[in-house]
Amino acid sequence: MSEIIVKGTKKLEGVLPVQGSKNSSLPILAACVLVDGVSVLHNCPFLSDVDAAVRILEHLGCVVTRDGHTLTVDSRSISCCNIPENLMREMRSSIVFLGSLVSRCKKARLFTPGGCEIGLRPIDLHLSALRSLGVSIEDEGSALGFEVREKLEGTVISLSFPSVGATENIMLASVFAEGRTTVLNAAREPEILDLAAFLNKCGCKIFVGSQGTIVIDGVKKAHSCEHTIIPDRIVALTYMSAVACCGGDVLFQKADTSHFLSVTGVFEAAGCRLETKKDSVRIVSSGKLKAVRDIRTLPYPGFPTDAQAPISAMLCTAEGTSVIVENIFESRFNHVGELVRMGARIKVEGRVAIIDGVKALHGAHVRAVDLRGGSALVVAALGARGKTVISGLKHIDRGYERIEECLQSLGAQIERSAESG
Ligand code: UD1
Repeated sequence: MSEIIVKGTKKLEGVLPVQGSKNSSLPILAACVLVDGVSVLHNCPFLSDVDAAVRILEHLGCVVTRDGHTLTVDSRSISCCNIPENLMREMRSSIVFLGSLVSRCKKARLFTPGGCEIGLRPIDLHLSALRSLGVSIEDEGSALGFEVREKLEGTVISLSFPSVGATENIMLASVFAEGRTTVLNAAREPEILDLAAFLNKCGCKIFVGSQGTIVIDGVKKAHSCEHTIIPDRIVALTYMSAVACCGGDVLFQKADTSHFLSVTGVFEAAGCRLETKKDSVRIVSSGKLKAVRDIRTLPYPGFPTDAQAPISAMLCTAEGTSVIVENIFESRFNHVGELVRMGARIKVEGRVAIIDGVKALHGAHVRAVDLRGGSALVVAALGARGKTVISGLKHIDRGYERIEECLQSLGAQIERSAESG
């Protein structure tokens, strides 16, 4: 168990390449289960969630090797279709293995992921979609048993909410289904497109329309392929929030700026200058920010819920009153109490956070209780006067590769140490 120690108010300067996307890596690793061959995935970040996905693949019988940021998954010898409770608990998004297992093995047994730090996170949409594709589901208490009744058969599935995980599971469950599956009101996140791109390279037939319709024509098998994971838009936005609140001038390379168009306006409204190219963004900030009155999290292409916490940290010292409405998850302001300990003035009323900008935050001992909330504490600490000690790093390590080294390379005074006492 270690802590991150930050001495704040250093300007951030330099160049930083953006890591590969966690939320793309996980469903694509799950998709490797479908492949009767070897998948080579480049740009896979070093993250504890990726390690957890690899452990699940190995448990299922895959042979996984890593060479730097390239993971090779040999799925020819899959021998098991159950995921035990300890592996399910390591990572909530392990539910995305469900669709692949049902496709490949025609049956599966999984423990329910349950709620988590940011809300209840039900899986009702995943389950009803699988039922309509021809899967029977048996509730065994804490585990669920899945079995294809006769065959997987394409159908029309209309989602009541464009759930990212449910859309991914439907894609994975229907690639070998007989006939055509059409998903209406599907999620449109870049990670969905990346999953479709990977599956299509393996020989699947998936067409992602621009208005939330996905059409999947069943094929007989998926073959070996090589794929490069897209850049992590949330990591880019987190580090941009840090530059905005500390002040500085940083060029983020290997980004895909088309993935965060809904957020660039927020940085500009706060007073930052952006130079945006297709695959890089430079952010210049004086560190003196203005409040942004109306941020609402929405499904893509709206403002991403995952960027809400770091942006809220950035706005703690913006002049005026900022308002953020969280529309996706019910408990996503867990980091606010910790920001208040650092001197922030934030009121949360239900799904709305009202941030009254203060002149400066001060260092404190704070604890990360979820991934993006944890990254918000790092952003706040970098801009705060004095020393901040952040514990609960297991949450941050799920999604940020070597966070302290990345920020050190921009001049931040940040280090990881063994936990005291
Ligand atoms: C994914 C991302 C997560 C991001 C989220 C929303 C991964 C690994 N995680 O999570 O980082 O914050 O998308 O962009 O990609 N819901 C239901 N029933 C369901 C499924 C979802 O009610 O069956 C609700 C959830 O409780 C939540 C909302 O729908 O309130 C969005 O969830 P969803 O889009 O499914 O998020 P995840 O796939 O879990």
